Amino acid sequence: MTTQDQVSKRRTFAIISHPDAGKTTMTEKLLLFGNLIRSAGTVKGKKSGKFATSDWMEIEKQRGISVTSSVMNFPYNGYQVNILDTPGHEDFSEDTYRTLTAVDSVVMIIDATKGIEAQTIKLFKVCKMRGIPIFTFINKLDREGREPLELLEEIEEVLDIETYPMTWPAGMGKRFLGTFDRYGEQFIQYNGNEEETYIPYADLDNPEHEALVSDGTYQAANDELALVEEAGDEFSLDAVLSGDQTPVFFGSALAPFGVQTFFDTFISMAPAPAPRKSTEGVISPDNPDFSGFIFKIQANMNPAHRDRVAFLRVCSGKFERGMSVKLARTGKPIKLAQSQQFVASSRDTVQEAYAGDIIGIYDPNAYQIGDTVVEGNHLFEYQELPQFPPEQFQRVTAKNVMKAKQFRKGIEQLVQEGAIQLYKHHRSESYILGAVGELQYEVFQYRMRNEYNVDVVLEPIGERVPRWLKPEQVDPSMYDERNMLVRDRSDNYVVLFKNEFSMNWFKDNHPDIELIDLFDVN
Ligand code: G4P
Repeated sequence: MTTQDQVSKRRTFAIISHPDAGKTTMTEKLLLFGNLIRSAGTVKGKKSGKFATSDWMEIEKQRGISVTSSVMNFPYNGYQVNILDTPGHEDFSEDTYRTLTAVDSVVMIIDATKGIEAQTIKLFKVCKMRGIPIFTFINKLDREGREPLELLEEIEEVLDIETYPMTWPAGMGKRFLGTFDRYGEQFIQYNGNEEETYIPYADLDNPEHEALVSDGTYQAANDELALVEEAGDEFSLDAVLSGDQTPVFFGSALAPFGVQTFFDTFISMAPAPAPRKSTEGVISPDNPDFSGFIFKIQANMNPAHRDRVAFLRVCSGKFERGMSVKLARTGKPIKLAQSQQFVASSRDTVQEAYAGDIIGIYDPNAYQIGDTVVEGNHLFEYQELPQFPPEQFQRVTAKNVMKAKQFRKGIEQLVQEGAIQLYKHHRSESYILGAVGELQYEVFQYRMRNEYNVDVVLEPIGERVPRWLKPEQVDPSMYDERNMLVRDRSDNYVVLFKNEFSMNWFKDNHPDIELIDLFDVN
């Protein structure tokens, strides 16, 4: 099989959702399709400490969660599926965002009883910014939820994206009859169990389906669908692939219902790995030279060896175990000897990989997040990974002042690696850390103690609103502890506003000062 054939089979995606919307349940069902697990519930086992014997870092064991995103891959219907996990809950961190730089499409799960929730919005923004195609699964139709039309309207309004319902539900909760499958031109009947009945539209007139078609709930849904067909947007695969339209599916991950139809349609429409921009122009996935970039580094996955694993997204060529590559940033050669592919929670050795695949490579303390590795002598770097504005800030000092040197070294290395963001107070030079989620602080504290032998004191300064300033508009006398002026790693000035209210007050009083939101998608 040619590299091009291999690439066209790859589907690399992440599932995004707010906690409890059903991401784990959906992942389980997809793994069942891939025959990766024998019964649903295995993924869930994570929470009950099933993996306590694994050698992941200590903190992970203590909390019974996976600190960083893992990768699951399996063959399905002739495709090679790679699912990247995006941690939520209290393990929500910058890694969650960065994972989205390594996927080609995204599945967004929405709880029909709740609609769009906070974490979904955050993750969605990143996808939108990057133009990643988004497929939506509205979950928990086996329960009484919100009206489908209302849910679509909410997606369009809150997320500013066109919707195209691929399926349309007839009833919900106790009255849930199934869904119209607009794409497959069939009605998928819900039988209250795992068995779905597929009735082609043409057969709905048959007497055996009389009871279904004459049901008031069915008829109401049919009328609603007619309305959607008339007034709704046209389906456009181009708009889907550019991230401007999201195909929407209704179902229940738990039942499961509508999952197979969703997944089959998704897999056939979702894009294969696309060419990526680099400093040397666009690099095609079937470029003969292997290349990829690192989007995550996990330290101490095996405490006995103190090793670090860098997660690499393959972007071109063919990866072969033991191959020699160059680190584009330094030009130094590196041998990719210990490679691993991630299958659920186990680590298998990978022999070869193609664009779209994620491999774990042994990191001899050489890599930084965003690094490009390339085979051959023609060096280039993929686009820098975006910076994600932190939401929580803490002042950090060493408990023991005698350890100032290790303290600085540790912070600098961890910051360089991308574990956490560092800011310096514009006048006092005191260190302020910024993180997307609480977990990043725990990991930071743990690693400072275990790798650099320094105990740190963290003093929260709250959930600030960071806004970047243009250098010519910086006047330090305008800021104080409330709206704090700091510098980021690249010496750009940033104001950490106490809250939205403070920021708006500032805006009203200084309309001429441009406050830059790195996260603004519009
Ligand atoms: P998450 O990973 O997005 O956080 O969600 P998860 O799959 O863990 O699902 C959260 C809860 O919602 C679970 O219930 C799960 O069983 C339930 N759920 C998921 N999909 C559906 C669905 O289609 N219909 C219904 N009715 N429920 C669904 P739980 O009580 O928190 O956990 P459990 O004790 O059932 O495992």
